[in-house]
Amino acid sequence: MSIIYESSKQQFHIKGIDFSYVCHVDHHGYLIHDYYGKGVKTLSSGLVNTTKIRSWSPTPIEDDKSYGHDSALFEYGISGHTDFRVPALMTSCNDGDLVGDFTYSEHRIFSGKSDLNGLPSTYGKENEVTTLEIVLIDHRRNQELILSYVLFEKTNAMTRSVKIQNNSDKTMEIKKIMGMCLDYEDSNYEMLQLSGAWARERHIVRRELVQGIQSVGSNRGASSHVHNPFVALMRPGTTEDAGEIYGYNHVYSGNFICEIEVSEYNLTRVIMGISSENFTWVLEPSDVFTTPEIVMVYSCNGIGDMSRTYHDLYNNHLIRGKYQNRERPILINNWEATYFDFTKDKLVDLARASKGVGIELFVLDDGWFGNRNDDSSSLGDWTVNEEKLGGNLESLVSMINNEGLEFGLWFEPEMVSPNSKLYESHPDWCIHCNDARRIQVRNQLILDLSRSEVCDYIIETLTKVLNSGNVSYVKWDMNRNMTDINGERAHRYILGLYKVMDTLINRYPHILFEGCAGGGGRFDPGILYYMPQIWTSDDTDAIERLSIQYGTSIVYPPSSMGGHVSAVPNHQVGRITPIQTRAHVAMYGNFGYELDTTGLSEEELKIISLQVLFYKKHRVLLQYGSHYRLTAFNQITHSCWMKVSKDKRQCIVTMVKIHAMPNGHETRIKLKGLDENRRYRIVSLDTEYGGDELMNIGIEMPKLDDFESVMFYIEDISLQ
Ligand code: DGJ
Repeated sequence: MSIIYESSKQQFHIKGIDFSYVCHVDHHGYLIHDYYGKGVKTLSSGLVNTTKIRSWSPTPIEDDKSYGHDSALFEYGISGHTDFRVPALMTSCNDGDLVGDFTYSEHRIFSGKSDLNGLPSTYGKENEVTTLEIVLIDHRRNQELILSYVLFEKTNAMTRSVKIQNNSDKTMEIKKIMGMCLDYEDSNYEMLQLSGAWARERHIVRRELVQGIQSVGSNRGASSHVHNPFVALMRPGTTEDAGEIYGYNHVYSGNFICEIEVSEYNLTRVIMGISSENFTWVLEPSDVFTTPEIVMVYSCNGIGDMSRTYHDLYNNHLIRGKYQNRERPILINNWEATYFDFTKDKLVDLARASKGVGIELFVLDDGWFGNRNDDSSSLGDWTVNEEKLGGNLESLVSMINNEGLEFGLWFEPEMVSPNSKLYESHPDWCIHCNDARRIQVRNQLILDLSRSEVCDYIIETLTKVLNSGNVSYVKWDMNRNMTDINGERAHRYILGLYKVMDTLINRYPHILFEGCAGGGGRFDPGILYYMPQIWTSDDTDAIERLSIQYGTSIVYPPSSMGGHVSAVPNHQVGRITPIQTRAHVAMYGNFGYELDTTGLSEEELKIISLQVLFYKKHRVLLQYGSHYRLTAFNQITHSCWMKVSKDKRQCIVTMVKIHAMPNGHETRIKLKGLDENRRYRIVSLDTEYGGDELMNIGIEMPKLDDFESVMFYIEDISLQ
């Protein structure tokens, strides 16, 4: 086990492969953070001492005037006592008593990991993970905190989460509770966040830390398009391949906040958890509240190494079920091909043409149910529009299956249209606040998943549909953010959502679920726990996708990212890009098409057949190979990335020209992740080089015009 407790120092030492995380209980019983960073064998007592008194510091211990918390590094900052920084916890009891004072009570270290009471979380076997739980008690107010730290033994990843129990005989109120708090002894860091908007999600933003609070978060009821629940701190100048970086990722799909405060003493505090805006939670005597977990990854080898640690961790210890580490099918989705305007014959033609080029799965998107021919009605009425489909679901599915494709279906289960039978019979089932106007977005309201009868309705209606045909894939969409929330509702909604998802994925273990929220509005590890892939963005333009996929790959494995080849001019930005580039970019992760394959020329169909063939041949490498970004995120001339098989015997390098320069110099690209002692062949060029040459000197890429791309398959020939 690599979590060690040294009783003489009352010190806990979590040892990952390359990192150490150390904290101790001080002589007054407070849990003090010592160090998180590059591994050390041991940490001597006194080397880090942050509880010295400062001018203006309050003194928490009456008879120890040399001791203060003002510049102490805490494991968990509590409001109302002698630490003025942004707190991780704020609880109220006895009519407004906010003074929290928690000291060490006991701890336990064990193999394995406790579950998080209905919340998604990473998992591991007893020989893969070790847990440290430290119990702190506020004796005056009878509250108990359990801080959990879980180490994934063979990695540089650990998780944190918190439980609070009300041991008093009166109700208490949680005003704020974070899953994690971490104090650094200096502030010489840059912050990396993944921010954007609908159709341009998860663009990388880097900024210097300054004194005060800098934050990202969401109060939209979803993790959101705007800020992903991920933040990293890194030393200035950290690159893809060098420098210290600390990643924090919230395993939750609802409101969140990450606040980073630089104090007057240049200490840095990071807290992450459910946003406390629009949040309160009443805890009855003996009740427990559990926070979502935060996955923390440390690397001293740059951003790329951190990303690959997240990718492997999520592929092996977050994503579950039949499709975990399994090849994902190539799909055709009818959305951009037909939108709402389709008939049974059109769908079957589309399936036939798609099968002709080797596509494996047909996905019927929005518009197959109720009276839905545009976005103004029918959400909630999950009955097949037999008139439109020319029969029931079973007959359509068998027609598609007879064409040789699997069948997938779109749902938006969390929503209700005011113009629907469901709303007519249950107008009170939507989220609303008394008699306030029911705010609509895309003509829809949100079902209140904090209510169990609503969750049961969703489970039963989806079950009915899924039982009525041979459905092997579900796209689970969600197209608006939450309004009219307060108190416990937003979190109870997410707990309800997780219960619904859990029930359905267990009921249909053979179905591949793909998450979606108007594209990537809920691309987070919470969803990945239930659904192994997510529609990355509604923006299918190949050039826009470069930044979106780059940013997404900072944390999330390419196997979780859906990418489709769509028509040109592109429907979101009007850009015309070559079909080869569209495919190369979509092959970043899970590959598919979203265009009318019935209207393509012979030549286009031939190109698509070859793309599909190539993808099938190299699917494992493209979906699960180690992912290396070869260009910086803000490189404006070209973007380049590669996938390397785990045994380093094959790789695929892709480059897209974004902005060609007249009379420019050739682009030389240094490859990464290969074995320097092996010899490789670039198959399409029929050239051979040593791994050391490819990585240290690099290859000259062909001259490309704007939006053109190239993809090289490279194999190890040392053993041939
Ligand atoms: C938003 C999704 O992201 C799209 O792919 C499509 O499914 C539409 N919703 C359908 O309404």
